[in-house]
Amino acid sequence: MNLNKKRAIVFGGTSGIGRATSIALMAQGAEVHVVSRHAEALNDLPETIRRYNCDVCDEDTVRATFASIGPLDIIISSATGGSRTLSHFPEMDMASYRDSFAKLWGYAHVVRHGLEWLRESGAIVLVSGSPARRCDPGQVALSSVGAAIEAMVRGVAKEIVPRRINALCPGLIDTPILQKKGADRVEHYKQLTEGNLVPRPGTPEECAHGILFLLENEFVTGTVLDIDGGRLLS
Ligand SMILES: NC(=O)c1ccc[n+]([C@@H]2O[C@H](COP(=O)([O-])OP(=O)(O)OC[C@H]3O[C@@H](n4cnc5c(N)ncnc54)[C@H](OP(=O)(O)O)[C@@H]3O)[C@@H](O)[C@H]2O)c1
Repeated sequence: MNLNKKRAIVFGGTSGIGRATSIALMAQGAEVHVVSRHAEALNDLPETIRRYNCDVCDEDTVRATFASIGPLDIIISSATGGSRTLSHFPEMDMASYRDSFAKLWGYAHVVRHGLEWLRESGAIVLVSGSPARRCDPGQVALSSVGAAIEAMVRGVAKEIVPRRINALCPGLIDTPILQKKGADRVEHYKQLTEGNLVPRPGTPEECAHGILFLLENEFVTGTVLDIDGGRLLS
């Protein structure tokens, strides 16, 4: 797909991986609409990027947001949905485990209602996460949700031909989601990426590069692209 003049929507497009992807799409000449819970309040995005407030967990608002934008060529979601549950399963609070699936329900709303507006030549990219296929202690919730997203992508791909859907699976990426932890950032990242084949966090731009590949290459559908510095092999 040539991205020039294509109409794109990016859920979670105001921060981290989604923000870098929105800017990369704009640089390729796409018309970009970003969505997040506080998008309209943010001033640090280029003016040509249109912004919408919407919680992906609210199905009616997701449906209305698509209806207000109209036909699309590209749908992306990197919206985290709710809280990230990092806890060992034997001690896990079941309410937190259930809450962690907000990301899956959000993505389901985006795909289900986005398909009503996606052109025949269009493509979807969802962002999962490397615990989907390599789960370290404390990551059971992240793993369960990520694996479900990747399974959804494989299943939906068969049902939406000729439209395409793929997942991008990031390893540790230097975005606000992790910076919020407040720990000494460099030391924290060093510990988390030690032993990876590329022992550093990835950048949101490296993920955006992967997402653009999944959009542009029309022979790719129903698959998962790992951008993880070799974490799966470490
Ligand atoms: N960074 C990593 O190391 C890493 C690793 C593996 C997987 N991932 C996955 O990659 C995706 C992007 O992560 P990131 O690091 O770029 O996170 P981020 O910088 O925190 O950005 C998350 C974005 O999602 C939006 N968002 C969150 N909940 C939302 C909701 N309920 N409805 C609508 N928008 C919502 C946020 O905006 P508002 O707050 O305004 O809503 C923000 O724009 C996530 O799905 C994450 O699980 C990240």
